[in-house]
Amino acid sequence: MRFGAAYYPEHWPVERWELDARMMREAGFNTVRMAEFAWTRLEPSQGEFDFDWLDEVVGLLGSNGVRTLMCTPTAAPPGWVVKDSPEMLPFFEDGRMVNFGGRRHYCPTQPRFRDHVERIVGAMGRHYAEDPDVIAWQIDNEFGCHQDYCYCESCQLAFQVWLQSQYESLDELNSAWGTDFWSEVFTSWDEIPAPRFTSTAHNPSLQLAWRRFYTDVWTNFYTFQADILRESGVTVPITTNLMGLYPGIDYYTHAEALDFVTWDNYPVSFPVPADNYTSALNCDLMRSVKDGAPYWVVEQQSGAPGWQSIFGRTGPGYIRLMTYLTVAHGGEGVLYFRWRSCRFGVEQYWHGILQHDGRPNWRYQEVAQVGKEFAALPADLFSARTPAQVALLFSHDQQWAHQIQPHVNGFSYLGEQLPAYQALRDAGVDVDLVNEESDLSKYRILIAPVWELIPSDMAEQVIEFVRQGGTLALTFRSAVKDWDNVIFEEPLPGPLRELLGITVDDYDAIGSQNITAGLQFSGKLPVTGNPGGTLWADVITSEGAEVAATFTDGWYVGRPAITVNHFGIGQAWYIGTHLEGEFWTPFVNYLLAQQHLPASLQRSAGVDIAHRQGERLYTFVLNMKPEAGWIEIPEMCTDLLTGERLMPGRTMLEPYGVRILA
Ligand code: GLA
Ligand code: ZN
Repeated sequence: MRFGAAYYPEHWPVERWELDARMMREAGFNTVRMAEFAWTRLEPSQGEFDFDWLDEVVGLLGSNGVRTLMCTPTAAPPGWVVKDSPEMLPFFEDGRMVNFGGRRHYCPTQPRFRDHVERIVGAMGRHYAEDPDVIAWQIDNEFGCHQDYCYCESCQLAFQVWLQSQYESLDELNSAWGTDFWSEVFTSWDEIPAPRFTSTAHNPSLQLAWRRFYTDVWTNFYTFQADILRESGVTVPITTNLMGLYPGIDYYTHAEALDFVTWDNYPVSFPVPADNYTSALNCDLMRSVKDGAPYWVVEQQSGAPGWQSIFGRTGPGYIRLMTYLTVAHGGEGVLYFRWRSCRFGVEQYWHGILQHDGRPNWRYQEVAQVGKEFAALPADLFSARTPAQVALLFSHDQQWAHQIQPHVNGFSYLGEQLPAYQALRDAGVDVDLVNEESDLSKYRILIAPVWELIPSDMAEQVIEFVRQGGTLALTFRSAVKDWDNVIFEEPLPGPLRELLGITVDDYDAIGSQNITAGLQFSGKLPVTGNPGGTLWADVITSEGAEVAATFTDGWYVGRPAITVNHFGIGQAWYIGTHLEGEFWTPFVNYLLAQQHLPASLQRSAGVDIAHRQGERLYTFVLNMKPEAGWIEIPEMCTDLLTGERLMPGRTMLEPYGVRILA
């Protein structure tokens, strides 16, 4: 278990370091992350290195039992690097160039910049390869942060080369993308543009390809650095810090290159409970992109966030609560951002554990309490896996396709994922996220909202999943397009038509006029209240599927809105409109009962439950509310945080209280 903070010794006088090290030790720290923005300090001029100061801190912390996650500092290239190689500056889509002055002012494909990277990374690698206090490496910092993609000449050229590895010929690309539209047929690879500013928009197939390409660019830039570290003798694990639900990079693909996942977790909106779902979703994604392997959060929120102004709050109890949420969903390391709030620079208002004055405060006491608790918890708890039997399809390719063409006003990919996810969390169910390349065979239920692009091998896998007894639930705009972002020629839902037992003949984008379509439920589902559909209404013909709800409005009155097809020994559901919790909560509970998945513990509203299976099954109970809550204990167990024996029956939870039951 790794516990600590991001530490910037270069921001504080040397005389302070010793006190910091002692305070960290007393708070139970065993790890700090350092140097990710310290390039100028480490290499003040080309080829002249200064590691003395960093050696001193690494050693001092090490002698206090605090070891280092060392970072390559390439996210903030020094002014002298930029002066030497101005062609490294990146461009936005609209042609604006990013100047030196902030950070990430570099293009990751630019060869001159890569020469500078090679020199600093190699020097750091050689210097720290044998250092026993350096236990892992982080490369760069948050790829894509501030600028997802660079649109310079070098990147456009790399895109053209990349496309040649994806398509057998230019003819194949032209036909896959439908470039006959508006006479965009390419007659040579070098005509293919980066999707820079243009009238209307670029071809949706090109836009999607560009995003896929840029995942490979960032992964390639990562691997470029990781290889240099390895060649320099580094043997400890290497990673880079991801950003949870950040949509710019396909993290499933990217994470294959990392030895382990680290990421940055800022659940800022205290105390808004809805946001806790998003926090849990972030965690579940970060665990799932590496097949369930435990992650480290290397920037866990401690103080209030802000650059020029403060845009969120934390308060007593909340830091600890969110730390346990991070662990509950798969964490084996938590480093807070940052040890101490900085007196200068852009992030003066991004608060760390300590205030600017560096005195121990309530946040320090709270973090120290967590440190003490972590040390007393069984070690296998932190490496335990999440025993999920339910999967939610969360795919960057789908998210991109929906961003490129969001169908109708008010539509978003996350907005379609969240109602299903919230219902699952409320049911106390552990959820893995999966994409088109995941193995579905270990799950009983797959919910795949707005699953628009269907690669042919995935269609086969999902058909097999249902045939073997799985439950599948798709929503509107599923199975509409091929992997190149082109609409199927066959009737919808394309390759899943037989599986779903329906045809979608037409649709009505009701969101364009904020219309709610009434629904009549058949009685099959235990839906009470009277939820209506918004955003979209599919006009469906059943081809054998059972109809669970029909529309009561519009020209498609009486036509199916929700269907279920019994296929093999499984079930395939289709929900032809956007619905919220009034539908998803009873629907999810119905699906869980159908699959005989265990009912969750009874509890007060706002109590999150998550499990990890180690030597024992650990049940995390997190009260997300600032008021007391309760949970019904089914059989005698122990609260590992307090050592209390808990008897069957109701047990209380403090405001923002946490229990770990085993
Ligand atoms: C990100 C970065 C950090 C810092 C924080 C707070 O997560 O990784 O360097 O900038 O945001 O702003
Ligand atoms: Zn570029």
